[in-house]
Amino acid sequence: MRRIDRGRSGSALFRTAITPLFACILAVLAAVPAPAVAVELTMYCNPSQLDALRSVIADWEETTGNSVRLLTAHDSSSEVLPLYRKLLEDGNQDIDIYNVDQAWTAMVAPNLVDLRAYMAGLEKLHLPGVIDNYTIGGRLVAMPQFVDAGVMFYRKDLLDKYNLPLPFTWSRLVDCANTVVAAERASGDADIWGLVFQGARYEGLTCCALEWIYAHGGGTIVDEDGAVTINNPDAVAALRMAADWIGTLCPPDVLDMNEEASRKFFQGGRAVFLRNWPYVWPYLQAGDSPVRGRVGVMPVPKGTPNGPSPGVSGGWALAVSKHSRYRETAADLVFYLTGPLGQKKFCLTDNHIPSVTSLFFDPKIRRAIPMAVQEFFTATVARPVRQTGGKYDRVTTAFYETVHDILSKQVAPEDGVKTLETELTRLGQDGWN
Ligand code: GLC
Repeated sequence: MRRIDRGRSGSALFRTAITPLFACILAVLAAVPAPAVAVELTMYCNPSQLDALRSVIADWEETTGNSVRLLTAHDSSSEVLPLYRKLLEDGNQDIDIYNVDQAWTAMVAPNLVDLRAYMAGLEKLHLPGVIDNYTIGGRLVAMPQFVDAGVMFYRKDLLDKYNLPLPFTWSRLVDCANTVVAAERASGDADIWGLVFQGARYEGLTCCALEWIYAHGGGTIVDEDGAVTINNPDAVAALRMAADWIGTLCPPDVLDMNEEASRKFFQGGRAVFLRNWPYVWPYLQAGDSPVRGRVGVMPVPKGTPNGPSPGVSGGWALAVSKHSRYRETAADLVFYLTGPLGQKKFCLTDNHIPSVTSLFFDPKIRRAIPMAVQEFFTATVARPVRQTGGKYDRVTTAFYETVHDILSKQVAPEDGVKTLETELTRLGQDGWN
């Protein structure tokens, strides 16, 4: 870390030799504000955000004279948590700012600064529910960079070609995808599949599986009161439905895919539907994208036409490490990046749903980000993060491991949820926190 601390060295050398006149001159000089101290901050981000962040941060660097070293962590949220946890618990002083997933902010909260001390009420500009997600034990430990909601991308050109309406339920989506795939394969495209999603053993699979289960009335794994609810017939039916997709609707290697792998598969023209997050939109529409101009986006399907909309809510925030030597400067950068100006620029560049309330009415945002419309972010389901507190990481790991075993046909759905229920009940028996 570079720190230019101009004009502060050498005072001991002069102390014995100062004359009264010299002392006066020094006193006057001391009253003049010291020249700006330029700081180099170090900040973690996800690899897919690197270019967008660089361009937004450049404005702050220019205005303040400080600089920022961006480090990339990992595309998978589940890989990021242990890395940050270790750095924070070891008291690492080299990292000033971490980008934290809403799902596991509670787990790193003790080593994060309470940002209210620095922010003079700026948090009131954000959606209150989102600020609540980052307020742990009364401390505001991170400021939202953007909010996320699971969405479904589809090949508009192929649905049009076969005259198919948008499928708003899972059973219709399966029929629609099967129709397109059969016809495309018959006309020579042997490589096309119906659907890809995040099927690897990690947090992304928790989000996808919760969407299937919640859409079919199977609850949220652990309910609002902390009761384990996963062992129920609707959850079993939803998981059986998804297990049947593997190798038929979905390619077998969907079980190894994270966000980026599934995005690349779809972008390569190899699937009719992609479940992912809003960030993929600019990639799909980029000049060199094979599917440019041929995709659309819709909500994640429901279980029944009148059932609940199941897009899982997510999002990331920026937090200042308690071990940072430059907390104040780091907090300043966080407020710039998460405030109306910085967030608008970042969301427009990287295609995210903002959390600053006024940005939802911003015509540029509404035009550029089709997902920043009410239905996409209000009709969402939360993971059981709040109710399982500091044990969420163990809940989600047990859940996605079970779901993966079910999808890869190692375990029958009804047996999987039964074992999971036992495991989670044991985990929560002395309280979740
Ligand atoms: C997205 C979401 C995040 C979620 C992750 C799962 O990045 O914003 O909340 O945990 O995907 O892979």
